[in-house]
Amino acid sequence: MSTPHNSAEKGQFAKTVLMPGDPLRAKFIAETFLENPVLVNNVRGVQGYTGTWKGKPVSVMASGMGMPSIGIYSYELFTEYDVENIIRIGSAGAYQPELKLFDVILADAAYSESSFAREQCGNTSDTIKPSAELNEKIKKAAANLGMKITEGLIHSSDVFYREKNVTYLPKVMNELHCLGVEMESFALFSNANVLGKNAACLLTVSDSFVSPEITTAEQRQTAFTDMMKIALDAAIA
Ligand code: ADE
Repeated sequence: MSTPHNSAEKGQFAKTVLMPGDPLRAKFIAETFLENPVLVNNVRGVQGYTGTWKGKPVSVMASGMGMPSIGIYSYELFTEYDVENIIRIGSAGAYQPELKLFDVILADAAYSESSFAREQCGNTSDTIKPSAELNEKIKKAAANLGMKITEGLIHSSDVFYREKNVTYLPKVMNELHCLGVEMESFALFSNANVLGKNAACLLTVSDSFVSPEITTAEQRQTAFTDMMKIALDAAIA
């Protein structure tokens, strides 16, 4: 049975789905890493693939940008396709000077001003945690690969372009010490929690609020391979 946003049949997704924001990154991961990838969804160009990694089934599907978008796709994967685990693999703007371009962040919680969780299930908390079990698998996978990850609180924001005088930036950067900002995890973690499923979020630093370096769209699409390898190994652990 398909949904308004996903034309895959039941059974076409693996138990674990990697979710980049960008459909082209989903295609890149499927074509670069998965064995025998099959395109199982392409509604609105939101590409979803299932294949195997080291012989075990894994899917990868884009989330689109922002909490409403990942809210829809993750909810349908969990409820209509029996998906148990979603690992978001996204990009982040660094809030702390020690984080450099292409460093990998693991969220141990997502802080947000978003109304997503309140509207979706009445949860008024501003901070939601990922699955501790999935995070452990991710940390072990990174250690086995010899790759460094920085674990901490992240900021899930509804806003990419903001005015300079907004008052919440000093709070998230200096009081809460968030490592960086992205736009999806709070909704993903909320859906996973309310549905009794597992979610985690790995991020690669693509830009910084404290140093002027930025990456190109092409670099972002292809250069995030450390994070992809960690997520793939964690998916089959
Ligand atoms: N993802 C990557 N960079 C970001 C930024 N500066 N703000 C929000 N999300 C991001």
